[in-house]
Amino acid sequence: MHAWVVNPPVSGVHLEKVPDPAPGPDEVKVRVLECGLCGTDREIVAGRYGSPPPGRKGLVLGHENFGEVVEVGRSVQDLRVGDEVVATVRRGCGICRFCRTQRSDFCETGLFTERGIKGRDGYLAEFYVDRPEYLVRVPRPHRLSAVLLEPLSVAEKAVQQAKRILDRSELTPGCDAGRPRKALVVGTGAMGMLSALVLAAEGFEVTAMDPRGEKTSASTVLSGIGAKYRDGSPGLSVLGSERFDLVLEAAGSAALDFELTTLLAPNGCLLLLGLPGDIGKPFPLAGGEIVQRLVLQNQAIVGSVNANRRYFELGLRHLTAFRRRWGTVAEQLVSQRLPWTDFESVVTGRRPSGIKCVLTIGG
Ligand code: BGC
Repeated sequence: MHAWVVNPPVSGVHLEKVPDPAPGPDEVKVRVLECGLCGTDREIVAGRYGSPPPGRKGLVLGHENFGEVVEVGRSVQDLRVGDEVVATVRRGCGICRFCRTQRSDFCETGLFTERGIKGRDGYLAEFYVDRPEYLVRVPRPHRLSAVLLEPLSVAEKAVQQAKRILDRSELTPGCDAGRPRKALVVGTGAMGMLSALVLAAEGFEVTAMDPRGEKTSASTVLSGIGAKYRDGSPGLSVLGSERFDLVLEAAGSAALDFELTTLLAPNGCLLLLGLPGDIGKPFPLAGGEIVQRLVLQNQAIVGSVNANRRYFELGLRHLTAFRRRWGTVAEQLVSQRLPWTDFESVVTGRRPSGIKCVLTIGG
């Protein structure tokens, strides 16, 4: 079969012939139908992130996935040929308390692997095999948005973390919520937009800001869900004196992240999701002022990565809720579907102007 292979930390990506995987008795074989392209893939192709499986040079890329079961090992009970599935990304270290309880997204040893990213082949291939515990069956009505389930799971986990942090100040008996929580989403790529959908569905009053002011359909999608859009290219001053209980960052700039602390309301939380593109570039920082504000206003900064199966399942429930409330809003986030043979030009070219670029594999 064919697969897109990288050789980290060497930059570049090649469509190569690799062995066709055969499922063991407790595994299923999946024909990949679609893969989403995200910032992490760009970082890996640029040679700045990712690692091959032990003893190998090459890594099959791809982690945002959707496929169809084509073969089932003899001891598999929960899946059948023809089922459509999305696979989770992280595989636990098998050692720490979190990995041993299906929460490898909180792995403590760092010895986890991630398919298509760290030490384990991914899904940008014609087929893959895996065990049913890592596969989430997707109901037919969601097949056009299924490829968004992996990034959606990351947004789901992040929002649940933030809610727990915000709850600190509101859990006193007799202290009611008073008003809806206000969230600012920074970044209107797929991660930002999926987070905006989750937050709006969870009752937050949502504003989403694109720090680069790119021309995408984000503003239309946001108005469709009752959220506000701000072109942030002139800087954070576009938000005036508005302050937010939650600032969710999905833009990938460390310099911007520290600036965002100025937008937090008292008791607020800054939630960081983006891998910084400006890593290794020093910048001046008013550290004392930032720390003083954080302390005096009970504010928190937290990072969130990956998601376990529970959040994929929550994502599916939310896809149903989004559809009921806002129609095909999730599908609208897929701005391009291209044949997977175009992958190299898309991943190495200028950032495509849409929200999510999806590669279709096979016919
Ligand atoms: C993936 C996550 C992964 C993270 C860090 C993201 O792009 O969606 O599953 O944990 O990269 O490698």
